[in-house]
Amino acid sequence: MKYRTLGKTGYEVSAIGFGAWAIGASKWGKQDDQDSIRALHEAIDRGVTFIDTAAGYGDGHSERLIGKVLKERSEEIKVATKTPVMFPGTWPPSPYDKWEDRYGEAFLRDNIEERLRNLGVECLDLLQLHTWTRAWNRDPKPFEILRKLQKEGKVAAIGVSTPEQDQNSVIDLMRNGWVDTVQVIYNIFEQEPAAELLPVAREHNVGIIVRVAMEEGALTGKFTRDTVFEGDDFRGTYFAGDRLGRVVDRVEKIRKDFADYEGSLAELALRFALQHPAVSTVIAGMRNPRQVELNVPVADLPPLPQESLEKLRRHAWLKLFWHSY
Ligand SMILES: NC(=O)c1ccc[n+]([C@@H]2O[C@H](COP(=O)([O-])OP(=O)(O)OC[C@H]3O[C@@H](n4cnc5c(N)ncnc54)[C@H](OP(=O)(O)O)[C@@H]3O)[C@@H](O)[C@H]2O)c1
Repeated sequence: MKYRTLGKTGYEVSAIGFGAWAIGASKWGKQDDQDSIRALHEAIDRGVTFIDTAAGYGDGHSERLIGKVLKERSEEIKVATKTPVMFPGTWPPSPYDKWEDRYGEAFLRDNIEERLRNLGVECLDLLQLHTWTRAWNRDPKPFEILRKLQKEGKVAAIGVSTPEQDQNSVIDLMRNGWVDTVQVIYNIFEQEPAAELLPVAREHNVGIIVRVAMEEGALTGKFTRDTVFEGDDFRGTYFAGDRLGRVVDRVEKIRKDFADYEGSLAELALRFALQHPAVSTVIAGMRNPRQVELNVPVADLPPLPQESLEKLRRHAWLKLFWHSY
């Protein structure tokens, strides 16, 4: 396993981290806790030292599973979790929302206490605000509140996860020193962060956590036009209508362009995300030990040749984010 420094936090984290959304066992179809627990152990056995979770992943279920597994382990694992905006209200927050109504102090305090209880710790390694709106950039008070909580010893480091429809809205937060880390979508389709967000992160030593490197499974090349997402799997709406067909066609173009590539498309997708020098860790979503076996070793592969990177640049796709159908 290769390790990289997570920006200002100074944490040495595994280049492949564990994305723990699906193990929350909601929004991803059927998920067996035993598979989730085995996947977490397998990842730690293979050197993974960074796990990303959130309050919203099964209403704390993902956090509780992680807390349980970490009690059985002696390795030093850094866990990043997230506090959502307060409801009622829209997701993502509207530019007309007042920060006081979505990330007010009493709410942040209560929510962080719940994160601590679920994970079974006294202090969170990294607390990320789960979403943001650029409307709050002029007066980013929620981060002042988090800095207070940091002084009180409740959180060690502070981050933000980009709102999908406006990822660049967090650039001001990086420039003004509000965040230690940023979690961002960066993959073969979504390459725009390479223009500004990632270079600014480097300039300001902000740790970059890449999410959705496999485009919710699509960039592994396993979906066809006939794929059906079962139960509550959010991908039923995410890839609804003509979207699944469009994404499958795009992936087929990558497959054709990389007909000589010896590894899998999933591997190629992870290598692409790992390669940007601003990136500290790529949190691959994993829901069973097999996916851990496939994804974690990618951290040790050498960088892709320049020629492959140039080919991949041509697969950038400005589809923007598909919220709901
Ligand atoms: N707003 C936010 O802050 C936000 C949003 C999204 C994600 N995240 C974080 O980022 C992490 C990663 O994103 P993600 O999990 O949504 O998407 P992802 O990493 O692009 O895709 C993960 C899914 O792909 C499938 N998969 C994984 N490895 C595979 C392999 N080698 N071969 C074939 N299929 C494979 C699995 O689902 P199936 O087996 O069911 O296909 C897995 O759940 C999340 O777990 C979460 O921690 C944060």
